[in-house]
Amino acid sequence: MRKDSFYMPARVFCGDDAVRKYAGEMKRYGRKALIVTGRHSADACGVYADICAALDDIGTEYCRFSEVEPNPSVQTIMKARDYALSEKVDFVIGAGGGSPMDAAKAIALMIRHADEGADYLYTSGADGSAVPVVCIPTTCGTGSEVTAVSVLSNDKLKTKKSIPFKLFPQLSLIDGKYLMFAGQRTLCNTGFDALSHLYESYINSSATPMSRMIAEDGMRVWKDNLPVLSGEKPLDAASAESLMKAAMLGGMAIAHTGTSLPHGLSYALTYNLGVPHGQAVCFFMTGYLEAADPEDCARALKLSGFESVEQFCDAYRKCCNLPDVPEDVLRTTLDACTEDLARDPAKCAKAPFSVDEELLRRIAYRSLSV
Ligand SMILES: [Fe+2]
Repeated sequence: MRKDSFYMPARVFCGDDAVRKYAGEMKRYGRKALIVTGRHSADACGVYADICAALDDIGTEYCRFSEVEPNPSVQTIMKARDYALSEKVDFVIGAGGGSPMDAAKAIALMIRHADEGADYLYTSGADGSAVPVVCIPTTCGTGSEVTAVSVLSNDKLKTKKSIPFKLFPQLSLIDGKYLMFAGQRTLCNTGFDALSHLYESYINSSATPMSRMIAEDGMRVWKDNLPVLSGEKPLDAASAESLMKAAMLGGMAIAHTGTSLPHGLSYALTYNLGVPHGQAVCFFMTGYLEAADPEDCARALKLSGFESVEQFCDAYRKCCNLPDVPEDVLRTTLDACTEDLARDPAKCAKAPFSVDEELLRRIAYRSLSV
């Protein structure tokens, strides 16, 4: 990414009833939509009913694929693509947390490349055109609604991995009311994921004044919501809207810079042990912050409401807990995380300091000794 440019082409509408209010925007994408969701939460939080009503309002047909699992697999993408082709859909709506939105992007890619098999998803340099994608987030972490990223579980590689295509949604509709149905655990795991995007974008070799401005604003917004994440204050409509905004700003920041070492380390922890994404990423944040330039670290912590790395780590433990697995199993996986990332020089280069395997190991193990 050039240091003097900024690119985030998703059209975003935020606010009460955004899905019904701005449904007309979807008319231009075609006659029929595929709505992509997880199995339950899109019904529980009301977003699926809102999408159906919105599409009815504008006379757009739709069908639904509701089998997206957490950390969606390549097989799920291909199953949804085949269903979409049989239904002759023109565009895809991903509604839910990061998994349905990331899946929607990959499904949209594979609909456009209808003759290709699953290997296409990981073909670097291939044509990345896709049918239009609309994203509607219901959690406060991923920022997928404003990024070009689609992360899938890859059983061949035995880890999670971003597919090598830039797949920005055309449209994102953001309404805090869907977050009111998230449980405290989801709130914490996704809220800390958003914070990790803000930190990793701020402390990043691709950071620019523009991306830092967005990350700083996101940290200021995030800070006000720590009492909600720690359970000291109940979630209300204003906090829900604010947490969604922090997540969107985190997404905009990483849309420009990409994520850094904590995300790179986290994928094996999630793939091997099922540790939720935000909990897995922030497990590595203490070590990352300590390895960063002290001034950058202090500023990021202050903007997000912490006086020290230890205070951040305490909040992480209180809100997300350490991964609940026997320590010997955890240590074996942390070694795998380190080896995984050491083989990814592009991700290591996102850290604005020099990285070797010893440093990665120190970052990987740091949260165990705080
Ligand atoms: Fe993330």
